[in-house]
Amino acid sequence: MSEESAQFGGLGDDDDADGDESVVRRDRFSGGPARSFLSSLEADERIFEADLEVDRAHVVMLAEQGIIADDIAGEILTALDTIEVSGHGSLPEGEDVHEAIETAVIDRVGEDGGKMHTARSRNDEVAACIRYRLREDVLEAIETTLALRESLVEVADAHAETVMPGYTHLQPAQPTTVAHWALSYESAVRRDTARLFGAYERINESPLGAAAFAGTTFDVDRERTAELLGFDGVVENSMDAASSRDFLLETVQALSTHATTLSGLAEDVVVFANRGFVDLADDYSSTSSIMPQKKNPDTLELVRAVAGDAAGAVQGLTTTLKGLPRAYNRDLQRATTHAWETADAVTEASEVAAGAVATADWNEDALATEAGEGFSTATGVADLLAANGLPFRTAHEMVAVAAENGGDYDALEAAAADVLGEPLESFVDPAAVEDALDPSESVASRDSTGGPAPEAVASQLESANAALADDRGSLAENRTALEDAYEALRAEVNGYV
Ligand code: ARG
Repeated sequence: MSEESAQFGGLGDDDDADGDESVVRRDRFSGGPARSFLSSLEADERIFEADLEVDRAHVVMLAEQGIIADDIAGEILTALDTIEVSGHGSLPEGEDVHEAIETAVIDRVGEDGGKMHTARSRNDEVAACIRYRLREDVLEAIETTLALRESLVEVADAHAETVMPGYTHLQPAQPTTVAHWALSYESAVRRDTARLFGAYERINESPLGAAAFAGTTFDVDRERTAELLGFDGVVENSMDAASSRDFLLETVQALSTHATTLSGLAEDVVVFANRGFVDLADDYSSTSSIMPQKKNPDTLELVRAVAGDAAGAVQGLTTTLKGLPRAYNRDLQRATTHAWETADAVTEASEVAAGAVATADWNEDALATEAGEGFSTATGVADLLAANGLPFRTAHEMVAVAAENGGDYDALEAAAADVLGEPLESFVDPAAVEDALDPSESVASRDSTGGPAPEAVASQLESANAALADDRGSLAENRTALEDAYEALRAEVNGYV
């Protein structure tokens, strides 16, 4: 289609009736009392830069395809640069950032500025802007998960032999180590990272060129705009491209899952601080306005609470998207903000958790004392008896009787006589029983894959470090791809301005 027949986006003569050249025909429908209700301009500050990039890529493509003339492309691209310098705050009024930037372009270029919106709609435009910006946010969230994993690995490295009580039902269960605890969270956060990378893959596809949803008569090159914006490819079906927000839902879900992991970690540390096992750095604590002696783990309580906000966002977003018909509905405007809010809150919570973990002091004496409390080595004793030929269930019953009578060597002897009718030392070496009762020995004996024994922890540390290096590599690759695309688009734009 030739440039002359590009008849859309210009100002009709009758629109100038009130003498204001920046008034565009669509203003007919958005001037009433619902004006501010309709507008997303304020929230769109988040995608101001993204919209300028999307505009640039689109205009470059339009010129390359001969849909608009090079000199007009140059004028529009120059205007976009000056709009960027003025900033979002200087945009004229508009229903959203897309409309406001277009108006600002027309204000600078004149009627030909209206050619920018040839062969597109705000529907594919906004979807492209959200994806463009969300990529950055998700990469940042990924980076904080990596920092948290690093903190956890450092703690594990320093505390491979620091014995601590392990709990089930918050009751003393079996002794473990601080390293084993820390690596349990590293593994969980590693999966959180993977979920975010998975979401990123599906965010990183370009909807641009879908127009309102039904494609366009113009000979657009969708692969070219995708390439200019650093997308891996296009969302092929134009109705899907304009309408779908499952990439938003998936991202918020992945962030919410990470927030849930963080909330468990935070809760553990709050409990550990309460029991005197860990001392948080002052930077991550808060005091009381009335009780001078207080040092409270407020930062971790807030981290814990962010999981609630994130779960609420999943719920809000899911409810908004549920049952939305094809193709575009304005409900989608309110879907987007859930993603921005969740990305900000969860990324910050992750950063704070990483800092709190990295700077906390573990009280090894208190941990060692507490590690053996509540006959926490009982399972190890039962295991020992079972390894010496007693059926495990019988051993379990015998040790349970000993547990009721103090859970020490004497109690075990009495229980053996009572339950088995034989002296303990007739089927097990007393020295081995003493070892099984010792929390450190108990930990050292649990050397099955993934267990807390120092050598089992050493191989977990190795996998953690290898996975961390891999994920660092993928993050850097993704970032470089985005930077390269940014530079390449700038170079193209420089050819016109
Ligand atoms: N501000 C809108 C949004 O965020 C942009 C798309 C408006 N499109 C429309 N057909 N009204 O979704």
